Amino acid sequence: MKAARIETMNRYIFILMALVAAIGGVALIGCGGDNSEDDTAALVVDTDSPLLLAEPSENGEASGPPATKAAVENAACFVCHANYVEEKLAAGHAAINVGCTKCHGQSHPHRNDENHTTPPDRMFAIEAVVPLCQECHKSAKIDPQEIETVRREQPGKPASEPVVCTDCHGKHRLPNRAVRWDKTTGKLIPADKKID
Ligand code: HEC
Ligand code: HEC
Ligand code: HEC
Ligand code: HEC
Repeated sequence: MKAARIETMNRYIFILMALVAAIGGVALIGCGGDNSEDDTAALVVDTDSPLLLAEPSENGEASGPPATKAAVENAACFVCHANYVEEKLAAGHAAINVGCTKCHGQSHPHRNDENHTTPPDRMFAIEAVVPLCQECHKSAKIDPQEIETVRREQPGKPASEPVVCTDCHGKHRLPNRAVRWDKTTGKLIPADKKID
């Protein structure tokens, strides 16, 4: 009688252990399945792709300025001009659908030239800046007080250069240049030639 009871107990323990093993096995297989699924479903994000910059985030919330048509098109310029992605004059206007090309032209020969010797369609010598801004901001002008402010705050600015809108709005000028053109004629300026 006693021996029989021990035997049934042993059988219970055996069944219990088998169950535990089975559940464990299923869990392992399950995990294995999940893992391999994760590997294949993993989203590979190419963070080098400039086009991603202009796209809205997954949840539809804008992570930065809204993706206007102009903001998306600006990506073609960011391939080489990545330093303008967050620049205020460009980004502010892109957000209200005024892209690089609205001011600088489509510039296809420029952007397709791997030698970087072809200028963009439209450049602005310092005297041409205010008239460009006034094409859209018709009543905007520079008042004497603003001239005074810029002269005081930017002592490095040559006296021969007029005070213009871009002295205050944005950081749109390049601190260093590899290639230069005469902004009025579009002629390439040889690298060894010193300009003011
Ligand atoms: C093709 C038209 C166009 C041109 C050219 C243009 N703008 Fe604008 N700009 C706009 C529009 C449209 C807005 C949004 C409405 C508004 O604020 O007037 C705007 C907004 C702005 C704003 C306020 C929004 C912000 O980003 O803070 C500033 C500052 C500005 N422009 C400065 C300039 C300057 C400086 C120039 C010249 C370099 C210029 N704009 C040339 C169309 C233009
Ligand atoms: C001395 C610096 C200075 C100069 C020069 C200047 N601005 Fe501004 N501008 C400001 C400041 C400061 C504001 C107010 C803060 C802001 O919106 O950035 C402003 C605001 C603006 C705004 C948006 C506010 C509005 O009135 O709707 C526009 C557009 C603008 N400026 C265009 C121009 C244009 C075009 C020129 C050139 C003709 C120009 N600014 C020259 C400093 C300047
Ligand atoms: C609202 C008009 C406007 C928009 C939009 C705009 N630009 Fe400009 N850009 C100008 C003006 C005006 C100048 C000359 C600024 C100056 O000399 O102060 C200029 C100058 C430049 C320069 C030469 C700077 C230098 O130091 O010689 C580069 C490069 C440039 N822009 C690139 C871009 C790119 C790239 C975009 C788009 C991401 C863009 N711009 C959008 C008006 C614009
Ligand atoms: C293949 C590369 C490339 C692409 C794409 C490109 N650029 Fe440029 N861009 C350059 C180089 C190089 C310079 C010279 C600036 C320097 O030396 O850093 C330049 C200079 C400029 C300048 C300054 C002109 C001046 O005033 O002296 C403007 C404006 C400009 N690009 C606009 C654009 C716009 C707008 C687009 C998009 C439609 C664009 N670029 C796309 C390479 C490129």
